[in-house]
Amino acid sequence: MRSFPEVITSVAEMKQWRRSKTGLVGFVPTMGALHAGHETLLKKIRSRCDFSILSIFVNPAQFRPHEDLSKYPRNFEKDFETAKQAEVDLIFAPTSTELYPPNFSTFAEETSISQPLCGQYRPGHFRGVATIVLKLFQLIQPQIALFGLKDAQQFFIIDRMVRDLHLDVRIEGVPTLREKDGLARSSRNIYLSPEEREKAPQLYQALLTIQKKIEEQPCLHPIDPLLEESLQLLKKYGFKIEYLECLSLPEFKSFVSPLQNPAPGIIAAAVYLGQTRLIDNIILYPQKLLDRGFHFIS
Ligand code: PAF
Repeated sequence: MRSFPEVITSVAEMKQWRRSKTGLVGFVPTMGALHAGHETLLKKIRSRCDFSILSIFVNPAQFRPHEDLSKYPRNFEKDFETAKQAEVDLIFAPTSTELYPPNFSTFAEETSISQPLCGQYRPGHFRGVATIVLKLFQLIQPQIALFGLKDAQQFFIIDRMVRDLHLDVRIEGVPTLREKDGLARSSRNIYLSPEEREKAPQLYQALLTIQKKIEEQPCLHPIDPLLEESLQLLKKYGFKIEYLECLSLPEFKSFVSPLQNPAPGIIAAAVYLGQTRLIDNIILYPQKLLDRGFHFIS
């Protein structure tokens, strides 16, 4: 095992570090509170690159005023240990004022696929995400960057931004890591009460049920009654539903999947259990996306 990851907190040092390195740089952007899902990403990037970089930055630009930025879990010591175990070379952990100095007024915004699903309920969120990811790409200049597919909409938005702006980085999606009972790993799971934690896997079960039905009869039209059934069931379990939708990929438009030629799509949900917001999704026919130049790794 290597010694310790280096820690850099300033933009100037980050630029200097990058200028001094040649070789393959792999990058995992995070907001910290690392869990086993992040650890998987870090180990994957470590095994493929000369240098692995982890960023830890709770990005204020992607939180809305009522979303409690100050309550987002932070534990640098624990994250450092995780990074050390995953043999990360460098942790970039800047302060807010380093990345958003006074008079900051330039943003990056994807304007199509960022509109539905989370975009509808968290206006400005994806603009904040695209802006910070673009800034981090500028500073770190990775050749490969990994994103977890639990945030699938985020993955497709970043991928679109990279294509649209001709950025020289390969975006790879890594399948969601799940608990034994199917609950997607998330930094927010720690907020679930024992009772909520017990109910939480029902969300993934609902997505699986929808997937099964769609794959059994790909022509299914309209798809809404099928979603409605699962939606009512989730409500019965005590979930508050923000959205439960099935959309086409990579367009995020209405989903039509002809029998002879099943089309890629996403079944995605955002729900609340008590105060905790959970998101999850299943990608339908991912091979079709690989054929179209998207990169997913297992
Ligand atoms: O997925 C996240 O943790 C964040 O949205 C990201 C990509 C690190 C940007 O702040």
